[in-house]
Amino acid sequence: MKTVHVKTSKSYNVLIGHGLLNRCGELISQVCSPGTAAIITDDIVYALYAGITEMSLTDAGFRVVKFVFSSGEKSKNMAVLNEILEFLAGEELTKSDLVVALGGGVVGDLAGFAAACFKRGIPFVQIPTTFLAAIDSSVGGKTAVNLAAGKNLAGAFYQPKLVICDTDIISALPPGLFSNGLAEAIKYGFISDPILFERLSAGSPRQELEDSIYRCVLSKAEIVGKDEFDGGLRQLLNFGHTAGHAIEKCSNFTVSHGHAVSMGMVIAARAALSLGLSNEDCLSPILKALNNNGLPVSCPYSAEELTGAALSDKKRSGGRINLIIPRKIGQCHIHKIDVSQLPGFIAAGLGD
Ligand SMILES: NC(=O)c1ccc[n+]([C@@H]2O[C@H](COP(=O)([O-])OP(=O)(O)OC[C@H]3O[C@@H](n4cnc5c(N)ncnc54)[C@H](O)[C@@H]3O)[C@@H](O)[C@H]2O)c1
Ligand SMILES: [Zn+2]
Repeated sequence: MKTVHVKTSKSYNVLIGHGLLNRCGELISQVCSPGTAAIITDDIVYALYAGITEMSLTDAGFRVVKFVFSSGEKSKNMAVLNEILEFLAGEELTKSDLVVALGGGVVGDLAGFAAACFKRGIPFVQIPTTFLAAIDSSVGGKTAVNLAAGKNLAGAFYQPKLVICDTDIISALPPGLFSNGLAEAIKYGFISDPILFERLSAGSPRQELEDSIYRCVLSKAEIVGKDEFDGGLRQLLNFGHTAGHAIEKCSNFTVSHGHAVSMGMVIAARAALSLGLSNEDCLSPILKALNNNGLPVSCPYSAEELTGAALSDKKRSGGRINLIIPRKIGQCHIHKIDVSQLPGFIAAGLGD
């Protein structure tokens, strides 16, 4: 088992290793004294992992209650949040009890926000079950739900007490969910960890998975530790995401986040190279890494379509956009441009 210590205003550990779900009760009892544990999960994860989780928590002396909602982004809303809050109240949870978020990023964001709101904050633990949740959403304390006007518009910074990542769960993921997280893992390598980047570039990402997850979490923890509340540095995590978010929008969210980020990283690296913003050619290595892992590298949308989608939510940003630009493998920086320069950047990124 490996441990990453996240040094935020309330610090906590991320435990990464195999067989940890079976031991979650014992591990959680080291940070929260046994009371009621409310497992919040979706129906797919419930069928797979709620039984083991409940048994382990019960064995460690917790009273377990469960709230299950239907899987998918459509559930990340105020109505489901309200149902969770009413459930916690009905089960009479107190500040010495806890919420256990068992699932992917949707579960983590919803359950984390519920834990932040309920009685102005009760302890919560993240047990990520997707690759994306393991290396990204479960660490760093961003919790949120979507509003009609857009994604993640209502939320809170609220750090968990503990994150338990059972690598057996991530190893067993179906290919689509695995590759969704893999694009983000390659991103971490690219922005901050050349050894991880080199390893993942070989195209056998399930090998040394525990150490790869550890390295991703370490990168995220370092950045979050320096910029818990998103004042600037945390934007480095958005490498490939300006174009990536635009691609998701243009596709009406039929392109997965990971695939969109994959194409977005190519666009950013190509633009940086052709506009002379990088110290070395970062395009060839990112293309190799993505190709070797079966991730998409060419974008089906035009520069006009992408720019339109990217700018539709930039109306209030004061005319400036922060782009994440590679200097060399393992090092990126924030590059501010005027909104009027975005079409040129994206066109250069598409090779137009
Ligand atoms: N808080 C943050 O910092 C942060 C960062 C990145 C993304 N996010 C959020 O995370 C969400 C996306 O996360 P996600 O990709 O994990 O989505 P998700 O939680 O919807 O999970 C994707 C699908 O996989 C299923 N699933 C989960 N675990 C499984 C398993 N072990 N085996 C089989 N199926 C499983 C789920 O039921 C769901 O259908 C978005 O809402 C995004 O906004 C948050
Ligand atoms: Zn992402």
